[in-house]
Amino acid sequence: IIVAASLGMIDKGGYRHFMEKEIHEQPDAILNSLAGMTGEDGRISANMSREELQAIDGIVMLAAGTSHYASQVARYWIEGLARTPVACEIASEYHYRNPVTTGITTAIAISQSGESLDTLKAMRHAATCGLSTIGLVNVDGSTIAREADAILPTHAGPEIGVASTKAFTAQLTVLISFAVALAEAKGHIDAARADAIHDQLQALPGLVGKSLKLFDDLRPIAHQLKHARSTIYLGRGHLFPIAMEGALKLKELSYIHAEGFASGEMKHGPIALIEDDLPVVALLAADELMEKAASNLKEASARGGRIILIADERAVNDIDFEADIITVPAVDPIIAPILLTIPVQILAYLTALDKGTDVDQPRNLAKSVTVE
Ligand code: G6P
Repeated sequence: IIVAASLGMIDKGGYRHFMEKEIHEQPDAILNSLAGMTGEDGRISANMSREELQAIDGIVMLAAGTSHYASQVARYWIEGLARTPVACEIASEYHYRNPVTTGITTAIAISQSGESLDTLKAMRHAATCGLSTIGLVNVDGSTIAREADAILPTHAGPEIGVASTKAFTAQLTVLISFAVALAEAKGHIDAARADAIHDQLQALPGLVGKSLKLFDDLRPIAHQLKHARSTIYLGRGHLFPIAMEGALKLKELSYIHAEGFASGEMKHGPIALIEDDLPVVALLAADELMEKAASNLKEASARGGRIILIADERAVNDIDFEADIITVPAVDPIIAPILLTIPVQILAYLTALDKGTDVDQPRNLAKSVTVE
């Protein structure tokens, strides 16, 4: 009853929509979630002992919707830093497949609400297979939080807008912190590298705050985008899941068909979709895949695609094709997926706003889905 009363008291704080408010709350959501992953010594910790972390040998991540895309970004971090295999499963498919769990010790159920029935059932199935379970949830006391063996909490605060924003960047913050703690416990990175990533994460709330100023730059782009019948989102490496998340945000908010692809996969089929003026929202970081990703975009541009480039400011210097360019401050490429999410969310929000759809309550969708 206390929870219901306090939720009822949450207002839009001067913003037009909960989504707009929640986009602006991301610096705090990230800061607080990072604090939850910081030990008393001021270093990244997963609130688990070294032995518990070392016992994690293979991971399956179970989630739905936006939380599933968070798991897909985390796979790059956990495999890359901690050299631990990760499978990302759509929760509604997992247990009905009668999955093989050989080589997997741990299931991580990721859920903002902690109540998605698909994710809960998948986690219960993993437990019956003998896996230890970790709930990565935003709502304290939710069913997944209560049933999991351990909890990795996000501290994003209540999220009201149906389309997830601050819960997603909070999930990513916790997941990269978990990857760093796991990697250090297993001896795959040294303390200096762990602390360097921690420093970057501590700078993130400020950089996200700066990126919130992109509303004005994105408004004219959204104004055009609202006329599109279809759009493509592209990213490579750990920006591929952000492309899928961006496409999900646009389709759920503005009802414009949107699909996210791995940039390198374009030539194997999706490039056939490119026609004059098809909007292509492209994500680019200053990482080792930058040149290859840029050349994939050039191909799309040459075939008539209208490129909307959302990039780390260092990644746009050598762009030799026509594009609307939106930049975020330079960061270590490892945290680029978190920072580049901000303009992607703002673009979807502004497109829906311009189109006049119901931003906080898109048609046919529910915030928390407790049916199969
Ligand atoms: C619903 C919401 C999505 C959300 C998904 C998973 O479909 O509309 O925004 O990503 O559920 O929710 P969860 O609470 O489990 O993260």
